[in-house]
Amino acid sequence: MTHLRCSVPDCGTTLDLHDRGLACPKCGDLLEVVVDASQHEPSVLKNLWLERRLSMSSRYSSGVWRFREFLPDYAEEDLVTLGEGNGALVRGQTTTAWAGVRNLWFKHLGWNPTGSFKDLGMTAGMTEAKFLGAKTVACASTGNTAASLAAYAARGGMTARVYLPVGQASANKLAQALDFGAAVVQVTGSFDDALNSLLAAGDPDLYFLNSINPFRIEGQKTAMFELLEQLAWQPPDYLVIPGGNLGNSSAFGKALRELKNHGFIEKLPRMIIVQAEGANPLARLWRSGAKELAAVEYPETVATAIRIGNPRSWKKALQAIELTGGLVMDVTDEEIGEAKRMIGRDGIGCEPASATTLAGIRKLVSTGAIDREATITAVLTGHALKDTDYIIKSQQELESREHSEVPVH
Ligand code: F0G
Repeated sequence: MTHLRCSVPDCGTTLDLHDRGLACPKCGDLLEVVVDASQHEPSVLKNLWLERRLSMSSRYSSGVWRFREFLPDYAEEDLVTLGEGNGALVRGQTTTAWAGVRNLWFKHLGWNPTGSFKDLGMTAGMTEAKFLGAKTVACASTGNTAASLAAYAARGGMTARVYLPVGQASANKLAQALDFGAAVVQVTGSFDDALNSLLAAGDPDLYFLNSINPFRIEGQKTAMFELLEQLAWQPPDYLVIPGGNLGNSSAFGKALRELKNHGFIEKLPRMIIVQAEGANPLARLWRSGAKELAAVEYPETVATAIRIGNPRSWKKALQAIELTGGLVMDVTDEEIGEAKRMIGRDGIGCEPASATTLAGIRKLVSTGAIDREATITAVLTGHALKDTDYIIKSQQELESREHSEVPVH
């Protein structure tokens, strides 16, 4: 039977699937959904999942719900979906040469209904909210979760309330949340402060949809099912993802664990989490070998999506790194900017947070930590149009720098 379980293996406390708690009642750590998919034959499901993609019904062909055997079960008419997922896997061209490798692919999760990977988790989280009869849903956000929550709440007939750190979410993301009809609460301080104040309020009338909600993680994990399907179930050597609150790395780690345990894949890609240097608590922990995360009190980076100092899912993310033999690293804002420009010039485009991946790959290749023949998938998490101010400002800076470098005769 599908149920909730504490994500700390030594605790393992179980709860009913539809329990509204977000933390283990025994040890206080995060929960995860446990689905028993052992009765399914991998080769049968692999074919069935592909066949569903051909359906004209978005409830059936959704890139999340076509993997329903590994998800909590709902009646088809109860799914809150916008036909998310089924996104492209694009081969790097100029970026491949720039990073110094031969086999680089981008899994672009920014090409989703609201322009970020959050939609994959939101369809699952919002479906559970509707199942529970929630009237108002809420999240703290650096912008993308807010945009996604607002859209899916509108689809599900619920009221959305989003808490944003004042002046820190891009105008584009704020505009999306407003367009989809969310009530926006601007909070003084960082994303961490916004999340803390929302959690501390403990309003029982709000259904909470940040990535500590285990249903969000279930939806997000399907990105790995889809990626591996696109790679004919042959995992790459490396899977590179940006790290903020670390929900996505947790979700991908869970997917890889499940797919390996159920015989869908034979080996695991090594997961590399890349943080921004000014918001790098997990990279610091990784380098120091510390056992507990020390929060970065004043996180600072141009990649506002991942300007997070106290990531809630760090233990789950670390489990994923350990499971896959991966690593955690950080890159500077300058490196992010350069990589972002390269992804744009390759005709792909992404928001700054996503470009941490290419910046990280280039760095690891330059030190010899990644072999240039390795197969690599970088996950791009947000669309280029998510932060247009950043693009225009950095282009102006580039031009003025180039101008000032012209020799004067
Ligand atoms: N990339 C983008 C574009 C994001 O918006 C986020 C997180 C991440 C990467 C990091 O993912 O938190 O799962 O490690 N954005 C959240 C938000 C925090 O509120 O939109 P993570």
